[in-house]
Amino acid sequence: MIVEKLRLVNFRNYRDVVVSFSPRVNVFVGDNGQGKTNLLEALYLVSQGDSFRYNDNSVLLRSGESEAVIQTKICQNDLHYKLQLNLSKSRKSLSLNDKKASPRDVRKLFASVVFSPESLSSIKEGADQRRQLVDELLITFDRNNADLIADYRKVLKTRNKVLKNHLQDREPLSVTLALLESLQPTFLRLGANLIYARITALLGLEKEFNSAMRYISQADVDISVNYLMSNENVLKFSLEQVYAALEKRAKELHDAELSSGVSLVGPHKHDIAFLYGQKDSRFYCSQGQQRAIILSFKMAQIVYHRKAHGTYPVLMLDDVLSELDKAKRDALIMFLHEINTQIFVTTTDFTLPDSFSLDQLSVLRIKDGHILD
Ligand SMILES: Nc1ncnc2c1ncn2[C@@H]1O[C@H](COP(=O)(O)OP(=O)(O)O)[C@@H](O)[C@H]1O
Ligand SMILES: [Mg+2]
Repeated sequence: MIVEKLRLVNFRNYRDVVVSFSPRVNVFVGDNGQGKTNLLEALYLVSQGDSFRYNDNSVLLRSGESEAVIQTKICQNDLHYKLQLNLSKSRKSLSLNDKKASPRDVRKLFASVVFSPESLSSIKEGADQRRQLVDELLITFDRNNADLIADYRKVLKTRNKVLKNHLQDREPLSVTLALLESLQPTFLRLGANLIYARITALLGLEKEFNSAMRYISQADVDISVNYLMSNENVLKFSLEQVYAALEKRAKELHDAELSSGVSLVGPHKHDIAFLYGQKDSRFYCSQGQQRAIILSFKMAQIVYHRKAHGTYPVLMLDDVLSELDKAKRDALIMFLHEINTQIFVTTTDFTLPDSFSLDQLSVLRIKDGHILD
């Protein structure tokens, strides 16, 4: 799949721009705050129906505007498609060849993987980032997992509302308990399925993850993960064991949930620990090693994607090359040369495009919401 063209209307700091892309490497060069990441965000949004930065539509609309359009022309197997996302303050709607489409239809056509500074620092930063890494991997493993994630979020939202209403004295205890009880089978089933999908994907990635780590760090070290429910590693659990562990934890925290007004159990609370050798990388590894681990995780995901779906996803690298030391950067660039896919890179450094001495290299200079060439 290749993105041939992008048009943005009233998106972030773009008023109305059209840009054509190289099928291979596109480098967006410019100072900070000019709109480089905004371009990647637009491409990601149209491919996933969701931002990698914020969820709130209003920040995506150009200040003072009420509607924005992200339009792409994409090509797969010699077929051309028009893929468009319309945004208003409260709505996102996708269309494919002018017919309404779901994020699911689009993901089949346009898969993407983003390397952002936030993702690279996710071993140190919040568990939210780490869960997101795994949930993106899940969708690579099986696109139906996107529905599972959405369904779990929905039941979690309802459950939180019931708990909050109780806390604010809007419902008596008996009503709250009845509502929670009726939600519980769905909550436990979706929660357990999501946890099991996560551990299946993490285990399935192990081989590629280790090869990518050796490629990037040239170190002979074993990389693995723990999947943590509370502090228990459940990576090797069966679906039944996961369900039982979740049910047990829900019982233990039942009173605490009532008094805090929020769901305290479930996959939205879990964490992933990356082990370097057998040691927890969060405490044991340098920042550079931690970045190498996440970089390898994403590279492994890309390789896995190719195995599962026959094609590579489109790659977006947002200011990450400058975050890596020379050896890791060279290894990553070599990897990018080896895989035959379309790549979008942002950088403030004019010398970086030289690293991609490819025939089909396009360098676009970005300044204040304009694309200069
Ligand atoms: N909704 C918006 N309307 C207008 N300008 C915006 C909006 N959101 C962000 N911007 C502007 O976009 C710029 C940031 O763009 P970004 O792509 O993150 O920059 P960079 O080139 O550093 O990656 C900032 O100048 C910011 O003020
Ligand atoms: Mg940026």
